[in-house]
Amino acid sequence: MREIDPADGELFDAWYAVFWAGATADRPAAIVATREALASSLTSRNGLKSRHAVAAFDGVRVVGAMLFEYWLESNLDTVIVEIDVAPADRRRGIGTALWGWARSRAAGEGRTIFQAGLGMPTGFTSETWPGSAFAAKLGFTVENVEDHLVAELPWTGSVEVEPLEGFRLTSWSGPCPEEYLQAFADLQTAMDRDVPTGGMTRELVPWDVERIRARELRADKNYLALHTMAQTTDGRPAGYTTIYLPRADPDAAQQDDTLVLREHRGHNLGTHLKLANLKQLAKHRTTQKWLHTWTAETNTAMQKVNARFGFEAQEKNVEYELELPVPRLRPAARAVVLDAQDRILLMRFEFDDGHVVWAAPGGGVEPGESLQKALSRELSEEIGLDVPADPTHLWHQVTVAPGHAAGYDGVINDYFLIRADAFTPAGTRSAAELQAEHVHGHRWWTPEELRAHQGPAYLSPRSLPHLLAALLADGPPATPTFQGL
Ligand SMILES: CC(C)(COP(=O)(O)OP(=O)(O)OC[C@H]1O[C@@H](n2cnc3c(N)ncnc32)[C@H](O)[C@@H]1OP(=O)(O)O)[C@@H](O)C(=O)NCCC(=O)NCCS
Repeated sequence: MREIDPADGELFDAWYAVFWAGATADRPAAIVATREALASSLTSRNGLKSRHAVAAFDGVRVVGAMLFEYWLESNLDTVIVEIDVAPADRRRGIGTALWGWARSRAAGEGRTIFQAGLGMPTGFTSETWPGSAFAAKLGFTVENVEDHLVAELPWTGSVEVEPLEGFRLTSWSGPCPEEYLQAFADLQTAMDRDVPTGGMTRELVPWDVERIRARELRADKNYLALHTMAQTTDGRPAGYTTIYLPRADPDAAQQDDTLVLREHRGHNLGTHLKLANLKQLAKHRTTQKWLHTWTAETNTAMQKVNARFGFEAQEKNVEYELELPVPRLRPAARAVVLDAQDRILLMRFEFDDGHVVWAAPGGGVEPGESLQKALSRELSEEIGLDVPADPTHLWHQVTVAPGHAAGYDGVINDYFLIRADAFTPAGTRSAAELQAEHVHGHRWWTPEELRAHQGPAYLSPRSLPHLLAALLADGPPATPTFQGL
């Protein structure tokens, strides 16, 4: 498993194919971001959200896809995870392996709350729907359930409703007219406060004009946003509704937020807002045949409004959360020792349960010791190699999983690059002392030998063949990159 670069077109295509196949299997009403929309959001560094595409490989084939993301300025304890495995590859532990990567990365970020959502089509239950069974197995609990409803377009229905009195409606497409910006921002803040989200952990950040403009810029790449806002006749904001018309999806438009401020509820304002925005949709719609919307099961008022427009439930949108304790991780410093032929030195670890791991030399950091000091001490004891001043820090590996360090929930390995002439490792520790630490010999591997390695012995990190190839081709990363198991 490793994070992939969305700019690597061919690999991203393979990743997206798995992501799409996993997310849409048995879900006729699934709405999945297009490849282009996802690639552009993964590569845009907007300072608000950090988003990562992670792939699970079987050899060179992508067999699992994960989106791993977290907010940067709020919700600092939370990560959002989406894991997708195509039906033909399910029940082989791929989803669980990606979950392990997510746990490790979250630990690396100091985050402990995991959130996930899935669409469960009508007719399935939490026992029969794979995603629900999977989430339950991992310990997630259901915190909010929405209906995913769909209405047919063009909308030709009619709604019996009293004429609107005491309010005026204004519709616009694209950016919000300057004069309504503050009112619109205040309405968004009220929406965040009032929309039912059950037991999901959520830190609310008030909307301001700048944030609205930034979101418009992001959304505009993929959608034409259609808004209708209600104001009282003396100009106070009362509510709004939004439809997103995708630029690339020829089938599905999305009825997004609808809000009526508390003091104005009960006057059919929600219905009038939606009617006005549907009129606007009729002007801009191209080929879209379906209008999708999501409403909490508990949101009686909005459910009633939706029913008037002929929306019908196709799926449950189930939101899950899991909070885990901060894992105790044992820190270690390790060396990527490369000789003049670009061969890498790996130590052979044999564990009591019989499994064998080839891993870089190095070892645990003692209390009060720096990484560099620990590296020097460990390499002198283990292989008799002097560490140059300030070696390049390549990778930061976090593995949260049992069985990696006794008494801990996992390990952190920081890897440093050392170039050396080939030598026969001989440190100050005897063979018997090394064996007591499970070290049974060493081997210099060429990049080709690493790539051809089939097991059963594991490599650590598992993606070492790829990491070494990338290091030799591109040089060290500017800052240490994250690695999972
Ligand atoms: C959910 C999903 C990612 C699971 O992927 P996977 O590679 O099959 O998962 P694993 O093989 O690691 O399964 C782990 C455990 O989950 C449970 N599980 C998974 N699928 C199940 C199913 N169809 N029925 C019952 N239990 C299931 C089992 O307990 C399983 O362990 P077991 O096989 O030892 O019994 C996959 O079904 C998928 O892509 N679904 C669509 C997207 C989705 O809903 N993602 C989850 C939200 S993030």
